[in-house]
Amino acid sequence: MEFFIDTADVAMIKKYYNIGVVDGVTTNPTLIAKSGRRFEDVVKEIAEIVKGPISVEACSTVCDDLITEAKKIAAYSENIVVKIPMTAEGLKAVKVLDKLGIKTNVTLIFSANQALLAAKAGATYISVFVGRLDERGQDGMEVIQEVMDILDNYDLDSKLIVASIRHPRHVTDSARIGAHVATIPPEIIEKMLSHPLTDDGLRIFAKDWEKVQKG
Ligand code: E4P
Repeated sequence: MEFFIDTADVAMIKKYYNIGVVDGVTTNPTLIAKSGRRFEDVVKEIAEIVKGPISVEACSTVCDDLITEAKKIAAYSENIVVKIPMTAEGLKAVKVLDKLGIKTNVTLIFSANQALLAAKAGATYISVFVGRLDERGQDGMEVIQEVMDILDNYDLDSKLIVASIRHPRHVTDSARIGAHVATIPPEIIEKMLSHPLTDDGLRIFAKDWEKVQKG
């Protein structure tokens, strides 16, 4: 399973990328706006740090404009994946971009049928937003299971990204289902790393280590 970090915060990207557990990055306009920096500068800086796929969103609404925007974004770095919205115009653009060899990540997917359409259009990645589904009283992980079943049934090439992750359990459940990628906010990676019993254990071992040093 691959882990992407879901942020445009360069310090956080460096921190977790350097541990060696992060394979790529996903951003969106909201995350870039939070960084308070110019879009192009942030993307280029991230691309200098991370060698794996970096998803960057195209915000046009019409197919031709999406293609123009995607070409521009993809030219920033060879590992850029262009996020394309889950719309009819978006899927048209995905088909063209696939032929041009530009990698895509179809974003804002909330149902198995949307995922199926994106996969048929030739998306490199498809992002299902589980947290936002859960917040509406739907079961995000159920959609993940459905999408994985469909991708397996037809041997489709798209990789499923579990996005909008709200807690560590989302990651565990995604891994059990066999989702290809989880894109995880830094604060959730931090929660995955730690456990109070690990801290307690370390404290006890440190104390006992002191004792045996004294003899
Ligand atoms: C994924 O690529 C998105 O950036 C992200 O997971 C959106 O999640 P949110 O629901 O926290 O905005």
